[in-house]
Amino acid sequence: MLRCRRLTRLPLLMIVIASIGVAGACAADDVPEVPVAADGSVDPELVDGRRVYIDRCANCHGNAGGGGRGTKLSEGLMIQRYPDIDAQIRIVVEGVRAMPGFDEVLDAGQVRSVVRYTREVL
Ligand code: HEC
Repeated sequence: MLRCRRLTRLPLLMIVIASIGVAGACAADDVPEVPVAADGSVDPELVDGRRVYIDRCANCHGNAGGGGRGTKLSEGLMIQRYPDIDAQIRIVVEGVRAMPGFDEVLDAGQVRSVVRYTREVL
């Protein structure tokens, strides 16, 4: 009797595991895609920046940059706050208060590409 009950739960468990997988896949889907330029090209640096953003930033700043544990970065806020891109790069490299610095984790190219992504795509 007991054995039988366990077996009936198995499909349910599989559905739960499968839906966690789907949710994981969707997580990166709502991170905005890099727009395609008029000539059909896509800026490869921004594509790299999106990848870094998904791996390193989205968990705190939100998939679309709307904020969470970290502040809101989207809707042109970064260009307004840091008209000079180097000032924003410095924050990502060095960190500020609860924001960790990324100098040990990301190289200069990755920092630049993710900062551009927050400025130009989010
Ligand atoms: C552990 C969570 C966390 C992670 C991961 C994180 N941040 Fe932050 N970030 C924060 C917090 C918290 C702040 C606000 C710091 C403060 O001013 O007190 C912040 C602030 C910032 C700011 C300044 C925003 C402003 O309004 O001036 C920028 C730019 C930024 N983060 C970019 C990034 C980038 C790019 C990444 C990924 C490489 C990243 N952050 C990863 C938590 C995080």
